Formats: sequence, structure tokens, C-alpha cells
Amino acid sequence: MKLIVKNVSMKFGDVQALNEVNLDLEDGVYGLIGPNGSGKSTLINCITTLIKQTSGTITFNEKEVNQKYTEYQNSIGLMPQNIDGFDDFTGIRFLYYIATLKGLLKEDATTQINRLVKRVNLENVIHRKIKTYSGGMKQRLLFIQALLSNPKIIILDEPTAGLDPFERINLRNYISEISDGRIVIIATHVMQDIESIANSIILIRDGKVVKNGKPEELIQSIKPYVHEKMINESDLPEYRNKYKISSVSKLREGMFIRYLKEEATKQTQAIPSLEEVYLYYLT
Ligand SMILES: Nc1ncnc2c1ncn2[C@@H]1O[C@H](COP(=O)(O)OP(=O)(O)OP(=O)(O)O)[C@@H](O)[C@H]1O
Ligand SMILES: [Mg+2]
Repeated sequence: MKLIVKNVSMKFGDVQALNEVNLDLEDGVYGLIGPNGSGKSTLINCITTLIKQTSGTITFNEKEVNQKYTEYQNSIGLMPQNIDGFDDFTGIRFLYYIATLKGLLKEDATTQINRLVKRVNLENVIHRKIKTYSGGMKQRLLFIQALLSNPKIIILDEPTAGLDPFERINLRNYISEISDGRIVIIATHVMQDIESIANSIILIRDGKVVKNGKPEELIQSIKPYVHEKMINESDLPEYRNKYKISSVSKLREGMFIRYLKEEATKQTQAIPSLEEVYLYYLT
């Protein structure tokens, strides 16, 4: 499988939501990371053919994707950032509805729905109306509808928004389990969500891909710039002024801080985290 995004730009009136995006995706888990308004959802909408980019091309297995390429569309499972219009459906009815849209036969649908509902711990609420769900329940329902009919390309827009730590871990493990032989794209601004499962991270800012690589490579790339140091509490404002501070811990001896600095100074260098990768490239 090869999904190729080539020179894709998207304009909404004056707003340049995507600016010459290039990506080469094969089997694996991709974290699409960027701040609010950076263009993640827009890129996803172009990839899924929900909207048409202003310029550039997207190809799947060397064929340009569009609404008529149904084989492609059928191989996508999308978890959108939110859904409206289903509040009065029960969870189970919603799942059958989506299964029907995807062309699943009743028997297949039932088998898959039962398995998925169980996997994300929704059995107890699945016969309740969606409007009575908590944010996390809705989120899990949205997640499993994306997996119906076993799609080859799975696209998740902010999948863990509103999940408690237990369900977040559960979801992350599940994504990891199903990722073999698939292209999985996870859009989020929470690095933790993709920390242990993404093979590759795409950093996007103002509609542009600013950096793209394996997590280890990104961490290596900022190694010279991440520092840690014990300082006096009274010096903290000065550090805040000069540097991006990634953490502050108040200890008995003073303030222990981690910060990003453009010059490489060996003595204070620390091992970077992915959060610091975010801070470095995206803020
Ligand atoms: N339908 C639209 N009409 C006009 N502007 C839009 C539309 N959709 C997105 N935009 C603009 O495009 C830019 C990118 O938005 P997008 O929703 O892709 O960001 P995002 O990275 O998904 O953000 P978030 O983290 O908040 O979900 C923003 O400036 C947004 O205001
Ligand atoms: Mg979005």
C-alpha cells in the first residue's frame, strides 16, 4: 500500500489551511501532530476525499483518489473529530447504521459490532441513546465505527479527546494491536497518545509539514538544544524570558528546570522528550 500526498494546498477564502504538503505513507502508524488550526483535520478531509484540495494530488496505489474511486473509499475507516445528528440513536443502532453504509451484511455486522463493543468496554451503555453518553463513551463509539468492515486505512482525528487514563491506554494498545498491514493516521496534539505506537511523526504548523521522521530521529534532532539546570527561584522569570521552558520542578535546593536553547552547551544537555520536540518545532 502506498498513499502519496503531493504538493497539496487548500485555501478557504483567504485562509491557507494547507500549504504544499508532501507525504509518502506506507503500512505503519503515523502521528499527525500540530497545534489548533494547523491543518490536521483539513489534511484528513482531503485524504478521505470529503473535500477537494485547491491544488496538488493524492494517490493511493498510484491511482488518484476522488469520490469515484470507491475501492479506495471503502478501504478507509474514519473517526471524525466530532459527529452531530445521531443524538437520538442508541449506540447499537448507530453502529448498525454505519455498518449498513459500509455494505456489511447483518450477520457480519453483528459479529464485528459485538467484538468491538466488548473490546472498548461499552457493553453496559450500548443500548442507551447517544445523547446520554459521556464524552469518553461517545469517543469510544466513534472509534469503533471506524473499524467496522476492517478498513486498510484507518484515520483517527483526536481519538483520545476526553478519555480517562485507563481508556486512553486501552485505546492506544488497541490501535497498536490492529496496526499490522495497515496505514493508521492519528491526528492529535497530545504527544503521549502516539509516543509508544507511532512509527513516524509528521509535525504540521500553519498548514506546512515542518518536520517528519521516526520518533528517535526527531528526538536526536533536538538533542543539542534541550538543557536542564538547577536555578534559584528568583532567576526563573529571566529564564522564562529567554528560553522556552519545558518543565519546572520545585525542589528543596531550588528550581530544577528544563529548557530549550538554540546554542549547544554540553554541560547542561539533557535527553529530550517528544513533548520537547513539540515545543521546539511547533511553538
Ligand atoms: N470549512 C472551512 N472554512 C473556512 N476555514 C476553514 C474551514 N475548515 C478549516 N478552516 C481553517 O483552516 C485552518 C486549519 O483548520 P483545521 O481544522 O484543519 O485545523 P486542525 O489542525 O484540525 O485544528 P484542531 O486541532 O483545532 O482540530 C484554520 O485556520 C481553520 O480556521
Ligand atoms: Mg482538527
